[in-house]
Amino acid sequence: MSKPYRVAILGATGAVGKELLELLEHRNFPLADLKLLASTRSVGIKLPFQGENLTVEAVSESSFDGVDIVLASAGGSTSKAIAPKAIRSGAVFIDNSSAFRMNPEVPLIVPEVNPGAAHDHKGIIANPNCTTILMAVAVYPLHKIKKIKRIVAATYQSASGAGAKAMAEVQAQASAILSGQQPKTSVFPYPLAFNLFPHNTPLNDMGYCEEEMKMVNETRKIFASQEIRVTATCVRVPVLRAHSEAINLEFEEPFDPDEAREILKSAPGVKLVEDWQANYFPMPIDATGRDEVLVGRIRQDISLQSGLELWLCGDQIRKGAALNAIQIAELLVEKNIVKSSDALVLT
Ligand code: A2P
Repeated sequence: MSKPYRVAILGATGAVGKELLELLEHRNFPLADLKLLASTRSVGIKLPFQGENLTVEAVSESSFDGVDIVLASAGGSTSKAIAPKAIRSGAVFIDNSSAFRMNPEVPLIVPEVNPGAAHDHKGIIANPNCTTILMAVAVYPLHKIKKIKRIVAATYQSASGAGAKAMAEVQAQASAILSGQQPKTSVFPYPLAFNLFPHNTPLNDMGYCEEEMKMVNETRKIFASQEIRVTATCVRVPVLRAHSEAINLEFEEPFDPDEAREILKSAPGVKLVEDWQANYFPMPIDATGRDEVLVGRIRQDISLQSGLELWLCGDQIRKGAALNAIQIAELLVEKNIVKSSDALVLT
């Protein structure tokens, strides 16, 4: 890789921020300098990185001076407020929030699927929603061979998707319940330990929650296909980390499950996990801490000649967020397109 780059992590104290730090520590990213940014609550906190302790700073007017790449995971409102400062300073803002994902001038990238979209960036690149990333990595290699007409997804989403505080809340709820006490809720509206509930993002007029609509709209943008029909039911489950998804695919023509298996065996970012004898398939505990999306239970849909069923698990914090963001940064470095010639003007 080429010259070293100055990187800032915005939201460094959060679940994704800490994962970004860990991934940067171990990947061969050409790093000149790393700056850690969070809210004023975290100023002065020290986080270890490559044998040193880096001090967390609050965002100021000069935070992005000389910074080339911002890896942001601090929520949509923070991104909306801070991205303009970052791109004015000449940095590229790789954003994990939903703030800019559907902006037609902002590329929405899963490097295994649409790396070419990065070429047009204007200072902001959006990291898709976690469930969408995991599904896209598993499904796109099949779509490339035979066009998908319709996707029906059901998700089983871990607490990690709601951040570090949500993970701690589920653990505290489990301890409370096991010791005979009432579980307390703060991040989630209902107890998640020993329970599950439909994803609690706002509902639209059709009864779909925001998370489900992200899967619908973001998949179409990433696949550059408005024709693909997508529907989803998103559910939060009492798993700490790593999401699971049951995916039903309808193709334009029949797809032999063995052919799909062969394609997915060598697909980038995918690991096939299938032991039919042992009834062993992807599980969130096996996906936790792994880069790949684990895919298995590929089978013919018995209700539809041109349909396939599959099951996947992927680490939401890793490939669903931090890793995908770093892979986008690596792509920019590899193609030498970190700097945009034409910066987006945000009002
Ligand atoms: P802090 O820890 O200081 O609140 P998670 O999604 O795991 O909850 O993490 C959210 C991340 O976003 C945290 O690092 C949090 O910092 C950071 N954050 C939240 N609000 C702001 C803000 N206004 N400015 C900068 N960082 C923020």
